[in-house]
Amino acid sequence: MKKTIRLNNNWFYNPDYNESMIKNDDVSTFDKVNLPHTNIELPYNYFDEKMFQFVSCYKNFFEVSLSEDEKLCARFEGVMAVADVFINGHFVDQHLGGYTPFEYDLTPYIKNGDNVLTVKVDSRELENIPPFGGQIDYLTYGGIYREVELRIYDQTYIKHVRIETLNNHETNKAVLLHMSAVTDKVDCKATLDVKIKNQLGKQIKSLEVVLNLNKEQESYDIQIDNVQAELWDLESPNLYTIELTLTTENGKDHLKERFGFRTCEFKADGFYLNNRKIQLMGINRHQSYPYVGYAMPKRVQEKDAVILKDELHFNLVRTSHYPQSKHFLNKCDELGILVFEEIPGWQHIGNQTWKDVAIQNVKEMIERDWNHPSIIIWGVRINESQDDHDFYTSTNELARVLDPTRQTGGVRYIDNSEFLEDVYTMNDFVLDGGETALRDQKLVTGLDRNVPYLVTEYNGHMYPTKRFDCEERQMEHVKRHLRVQDAAFRNENISGAIGWCAFDYNTHNDFGAGDRICYHGIMDMFRVNKFAASVYKSQVSPKIDPVLEPVTFWARGERSIGGILPLTVLTNCDYITLSFGELKTFKLFPSEVYDGLPYPPVIVDESIVTVEDLGEWGMKWEDGIIKGFVNDACVISKTLSKNPLPTYLSVKTDDLVLNSNEKDATRTVVSILDQAHNLLPFFDRPVTIDLTGPAKLHGPSVVVPKGGVFGFWIETINKTGIVDLTLACEGLAPVNIQISIV
Ligand code: GAL
Repeated sequence: MKKTIRLNNNWFYNPDYNESMIKNDDVSTFDKVNLPHTNIELPYNYFDEKMFQFVSCYKNFFEVSLSEDEKLCARFEGVMAVADVFINGHFVDQHLGGYTPFEYDLTPYIKNGDNVLTVKVDSRELENIPPFGGQIDYLTYGGIYREVELRIYDQTYIKHVRIETLNNHETNKAVLLHMSAVTDKVDCKATLDVKIKNQLGKQIKSLEVVLNLNKEQESYDIQIDNVQAELWDLESPNLYTIELTLTTENGKDHLKERFGFRTCEFKADGFYLNNRKIQLMGINRHQSYPYVGYAMPKRVQEKDAVILKDELHFNLVRTSHYPQSKHFLNKCDELGILVFEEIPGWQHIGNQTWKDVAIQNVKEMIERDWNHPSIIIWGVRINESQDDHDFYTSTNELARVLDPTRQTGGVRYIDNSEFLEDVYTMNDFVLDGGETALRDQKLVTGLDRNVPYLVTEYNGHMYPTKRFDCEERQMEHVKRHLRVQDAAFRNENISGAIGWCAFDYNTHNDFGAGDRICYHGIMDMFRVNKFAASVYKSQVSPKIDPVLEPVTFWARGERSIGGILPLTVLTNCDYITLSFGELKTFKLFPSEVYDGLPYPPVIVDESIVTVEDLGEWGMKWEDGIIKGFVNDACVISKTLSKNPLPTYLSVKTDDLVLNSNEKDATRTVVSILDQAHNLLPFFDRPVTIDLTGPAKLHGPSVVVPKGGVFGFWIETINKTGIVDLTLACEGLAPVNIQISIV
């Protein structure tokens, strides 16, 4: 494109749509909003899911001046769920489906000078588009919840480019560009200038190619040889940028795309990245947040990827159950976390119109995301739907035509399902507390041979667990996550397992705990860890991140019958020591029960420590001191207080500098800690949040912590200045945080 104009500020929004709004530009009854925007802010829980299911209107006034040959398009990254786009009162087009981008040509009705873009947004659950028509275990929210931009093109321009990398494992690699260009001419001489740059912006290759463009031809293949570049991998996610300039006698067009060199393949004996076998340890992510649903800006989307890769050390995330924000995917590329991306849907398959939208979703998803090295597989089935030969033959065929470099999968929960994909991707919920943690693949597939196989969900509804549940339940939650991963690591023919799920999420009343929340996360909705998060966090070398997480509130009377045995300590240390006050110290080693895992936990049970050692009911309770050792050196320790008292109001804000030019946001986590800096899980005095300055708080300003913690986000409002946040709670010293909005 020649030029882009970001269109995320100064929208006018009216939640009561009526037809006269298309031609009438009086916005006196509208609110001024910025994108990403949710059509209604929701309570944290216990709300009616119909609250966001309505039709609303958005308007944006912009000025533009186009020369005769120029064309102006509007690109929407995501509008839930149906968008009717109008320019200066004229209907342009309608987009069905809330998870994929669309771009419409506005030129025929554009005026030089002032223009008004109007979008009618229907956020109802309309049964002719996925994922609607049946029950869904998540909410879809509403509004123009991702970004919008205007794009100016000349008559001849590059529509998109798919970048295929070749000879990846040789020093001299190659890049094959599949470029789609648009021209209205039959024989249009063009030169294409290609530049490849590394992450530091250094040019590593340049080339000029002469092309004859033709309006009848869709795509042009251009190969660039002798590219000396580094591989993209989990530990070293090297990225490159390709810059294309297409010059014709009618002008110039530019396109920039980021990509990486890597190979990936699911085989019957596992998953290979760059010819190296990698055990996939993944988690499912819903893109929702408290109060604002899906409408979170770039920084917050990126933070989720940071949490999953850098904090919890997953090597894979599944974007259940739809294509997610480009910012999240970009960050996955940058951090080196693999992605399973899939089309929108949940169990239900609708009529032909519905299926046509699903097929369109395959196209929109792949064309948006084919250059992300992090994406290793396309999910081309509706999550957990029944077999449908013709429908899934079409989705698979389309995916393979659009992108022959990636394998397809399609998540099912039925056994013996027709295997039309390249990878049999299965939600295996067999673990109900009994003997079996995961089934052998042949039992599931019904095939007489092993095929590429990946477990795409486990746990979830089988054992919902709140971060503020009692210790016994949280122990069992931890155990189930340990058991499934241990089983996956032990089974040669399972590429890996993806847990359900990263974060608790709001859902329909047909699911969840009755309060519109599914407590299936290993973190809560504020992205605060439950104990189970440390099952994953501890599967990394202690040199990178030493982990020591005893699954206990350290109290004699929290569990039934009392005591703390058996005690699971999630750790990656060689061994630990546990001291009970000054009375006794034990040296304890990782458990053989879970030695399929890279770093099994330590399980302290009565075979090692007797109930008497830790004192029986009626005796004195002592501090617990736990130390983790690597190569006989103590690398981490924790004191668990016998006499925990509210001592600190801990306030941690993810970012202390935010942007004012467009909507930006950051999270703050507030915890109530004892003298030894451990959470006080049953603390229930309210905390007040006092915010002054140019930002807006999501959610209430008085909150009672749950499980000793709560979180909140603040968002910027296009003004610079200092935001002053003061957190106060009776009996604790208040905390003040200042955030600069620049
Ligand atoms: C699966 C489904 C998920 C979620 C999960 C809960 O059946 O694919 O979306 O509902 O169950 O365990």
